[in-house]
Amino acid sequence: MAWGKRKDLLGIEDLSRDEMESILDTAESFKEVSLREIKKVPTLRGTTIVNLFLEPSTRTRTSFELAGKRLSADVINVSAASSSLLKGESLKDMAWNIEAMNTDILVVRHSAAGAAQFLSRVLGCSVINGGDGAHEHPTQALLDLFSIRERKKQIEGLTVTIIGDIAHSRVALSNILALQKMGAHVRIAGPATMIPLGVASLGVEVTYDMDAAIEGADVIMMLRIQKERQGGHLFPSIREYATHFGLNQRRLRGAKKDLLIMHPGPINRGVEISPEVADGPYSIILDQVTNGVAVRMAILFLYSGAAQ
Ligand code: CP
Repeated sequence: MAWGKRKDLLGIEDLSRDEMESILDTAESFKEVSLREIKKVPTLRGTTIVNLFLEPSTRTRTSFELAGKRLSADVINVSAASSSLLKGESLKDMAWNIEAMNTDILVVRHSAAGAAQFLSRVLGCSVINGGDGAHEHPTQALLDLFSIRERKKQIEGLTVTIIGDIAHSRVALSNILALQKMGAHVRIAGPATMIPLGVASLGVEVTYDMDAAIEGADVIMMLRIQKERQGGHLFPSIREYATHFGLNQRRLRGAKKDLLIMHPGPINRGVEISPEVADGPYSIILDQVTNGVAVRMAILFLYSGAAQ
C-alpha cells in the first residue's frame, strides 16, 4: 500500500492491518543496514529527532537512538533527571520548547497513559509513543510482529499466549490489538489479580492455568511483573508467583516443537522465566531486540514523511 502522510504513531488501535504490514515490509528492507560494516544510510539526513524518555528504558531508547543515527538523522536524548521538569516546568512547556528548536519527530515515554496523545494535540511535529503508562507500547508490538513473522512466515492462524501481569502491561494491550488485527488467536494467562476485568470482551481467550496456557501455543510471550504500576500486593510472594506462573523447562514438556518464546524485556530471571528457558532453543528474546532497531528505522522513515 502507498504510505500517506501520518503525523503520529500513538497506538496500535489507530493502525490497520495493511499499515502494520507496510511497516513490517519497510523494516525488512532496513534490517540489512545494521549488518553492514558502515551501518548508515543518508535517508533522514537533516531530520531532527528528540527522544524524550521520562521513564527508565534500555531497549526502546537505545534502539530509537540507533535507528535515527543509522538513518543519518540528528538524535538528541532527554531524560527526566536531566530536564527542567525538575525545576517545575510543565510537560507542555517543555514539549513546546523542544519543538521550537525545529524538531521533526518527538519520541516520548511517559508514566501517564495518554501522555503521547496529549503531546500530539499540542505539537505540530510527529509524536511517536515509546510507551505511555499501562496504555500502549505500539513500537514494541510491531517489533514483536516482525519477529514472529520472520520465524513463522505468517501470523494469521497462530495461537499466541501472553502470560503475566496483563493488567498493568502496555505491551500486552498493544500486542493483543496487533496480533488480533493480523489474524492470530490470542490467549492470556496470569493470576486473577493481574487479569483486567472484562478483558474477554476484546476477543481473547482467558485462562488462569499455566498448563492450559502453554498447550497448543505457537508463541508464548512472557511479561514481567510491573511493580511500578501496581497499587498493592497482588500475589503472596515472588516465590509463589514463580511457582505458579514462571516459565521453566518442566512446564515446556508438552509444548510444540517449533514454539517461540518471547519477552519484551527487561527479564527477571527466576521469576517469570527461568534462565534455561530465557537462553534456551525456543527463545527469540535477543532477536526481538535486534529487530527493534529495524522496525524503529521503518517507523522513523515512514512518519518523517520521507516515504512520500
Ligand atoms: N521493552 C521495553 O520497552 O524495554 P525498555 O523498557 O528497556 O525500553
